[in-house]
Amino acid sequence: MEPKTLLEPLGLDALYITRSENVRYLSGFPHPEDAQVLVMGEASFLLTDPRYPEAERESRIPAKVLKREEKEAFLRELRGRVGFEAEHLPYASLERLRELAPAEWVPTKGVIERLRLKKTPEEVERIRKAQALAEEALAHALTLLKPGVLEREVALEIEFFLKRRGVGVAFPPIVASGTRGALPHAGASGKALEAGELVTLDLGAEVEGYHSDMTRTVALGKVEGELKRAFEATLAALERVLDVLGPGKSTKELDALAREELRRFDLDRYFVHSLGHGVGLAVHEGPGLSPYTEETLEAGMVVTVEPGVYLPGRGGVRIEELVLITDTGMELLSRFPRAWQEV
Ligand code: GLY
Ligand code: MN
Ligand code: MN
Repeated sequence: MEPKTLLEPLGLDALYITRSENVRYLSGFPHPEDAQVLVMGEASFLLTDPRYPEAERESRIPAKVLKREEKEAFLRELRGRVGFEAEHLPYASLERLRELAPAEWVPTKGVIERLRLKKTPEEVERIRKAQALAEEALAHALTLLKPGVLEREVALEIEFFLKRRGVGVAFPPIVASGTRGALPHAGASGKALEAGELVTLDLGAEVEGYHSDMTRTVALGKVEGELKRAFEATLAALERVLDVLGPGKSTKELDALAREELRRFDLDRYFVHSLGHGVGLAVHEGPGLSPYTEETLEAGMVVTVEPGVYLPGRGGVRIEELVLITDTGMELLSRFPRAWQEV
């Protein structure tokens, strides 16, 4: 996007970008945590430091590799209304900027995040590749599930698998078995898997800054009763949403639809988190699919749909799909079988 097109509607002369995902989005620079972007009337610049002499080559926009005093001299020249990312600039950094430049520093929220909502075909390709590799990692992980194996060993195997293929992990994989399955973000512990338990595996890969996110819950040996029923309810809620997913749908209504389906099983009160979220340069980004969001899905958005049922002290289920919203409906980016499986 032309800098002017971005700045004019906001009434800004410049915009100082410090959120790393936004820096990467605007520049492509692969070390965005050590860089900022300054959007100015005619051009945008990447600002980084001498640890990254390759920045000029790795950035799509002109890069300035500056020592601290050089960077401060550059920022000192700013005048007029300069926006900053209120949610991603430490207070002390703002104070320093104010000392440096006699500009009007204007807080902004979500400016670049709004641009990131709809993905380009190139962005989707990276997410697709991340998802494909995560599915290979999951297939590998399922072969390791045996009584006595520790959750964290399974998680480590997932990390090895992805890193060996030259990609990153989107987040520390979740491997939650037995009663730990009732903790939605349990991580992976030193607990050993036991026969007759459900095991929830939630994992993603990272390819050139873009992430994937998917969850499967499988049974280790024979599992029946309330946990199997929780699985059936979760699957029904997921499929109810997938059946209608597409452009023009309200995020809040989709979330409500999943809860309505779980209510038929009298399990809706055990679904304690949002239905889903956007995925891209961040694992969790807009649009949110939740009771608290009033957004409308559009073609190009990539979102998760991840209902779950968490029965405290007993166990839990989550099934999470990764989906691209298209002009006519949706495309499942996650292809891994989701039906009940006893391994
Ligand atoms: N892995 C975190 C999530 O599913 O949102
Ligand atoms: Mn997940
Ligand atoms: Mn998710």
